[in-house]
Amino acid sequence: MRIVLLGAPGSGKGTQAALLEQHLGLPHISTGVLLRTAVQEQTELGLQAAAIMDRGELVPDDVMLELIEQRLGRPDVDRGFLLDGYPRNLAQAESLDALLERLDQPVEEVIQIDIDPEQVIARIAKRAEQEDRSDDTEEVVRNRMRVYQEQTAPVAGYYAERGLLTRVLGDGSIEEVQQLILSVLDQGESGLPA
Ligand code: AP5
Ligand code: MG
Repeated sequence: MRIVLLGAPGSGKGTQAALLEQHLGLPHISTGVLLRTAVQEQTELGLQAAAIMDRGELVPDDVMLELIEQRLGRPDVDRGFLLDGYPRNLAQAESLDALLERLDQPVEEVIQIDIDPEQVIARIAKRAEQEDRSDDTEEVVRNRMRVYQEQTAPVAGYYAERGLLTRVLGDGSIEEVQQLILSVLDQGESGLPA
């Protein structure tokens, strides 16, 4: 299975992908995690990305394409993958399609987790108390949400046109959202129609 998870910041992409990774045995590929690791390790990519991430803006498309191309070139993606955080705009969606076409591994399912913006603010405020993500201040979260609305939200339409998109409600408990996603993957037609 080759799955893309879409959703606003704090919608639960990372949480759900980690559970699906266990359940389906597919690698969870989060571009946010890859970037945060690069920042920590102070690689060239990390040095380039840190300030952009701290503002809640998007890292340039060419940089992201190189990162995702490298990751998808590793052997553990042979049976599929769960993409979390990529693609994040229409140009990235087109690049990903071209890349996966070349690898003969097209995207099969796209699941968008829908969430109320005020819940996002509450969830991330809670996470900010527990974890140390430098982009989890309220000001930056609001910018991440604005960037999401302007640049990432249209990606759902891109996949809907290709008949790949299913939307699920993300405001239930972690377990409830997981069940919605699993039913989409098992039956291909639960959740909300796109
Ligand atoms: P990224 O790491 O992808 O961050 P994000 O999209 O802003 O999303 P989050 O990771 O904050 O939220 P999530 O949806 O994963 O939710 P989570 O499961 O953690 O990107 C960070 C930055 O990297 C970007 O701003 C950009 O700069 C850069 N970047 C990354 N990819 C890029 C790309 N492709 N192109 C360019 N730049 C890129 O849940 C949030 C919290 O809520 C957690 O505490 C969780 O425990 C809790 N929670 C989850 N589900 C529930 C639930 N059902 N009920 C209650 N609480 C819940
Ligand atoms: Mg995440």
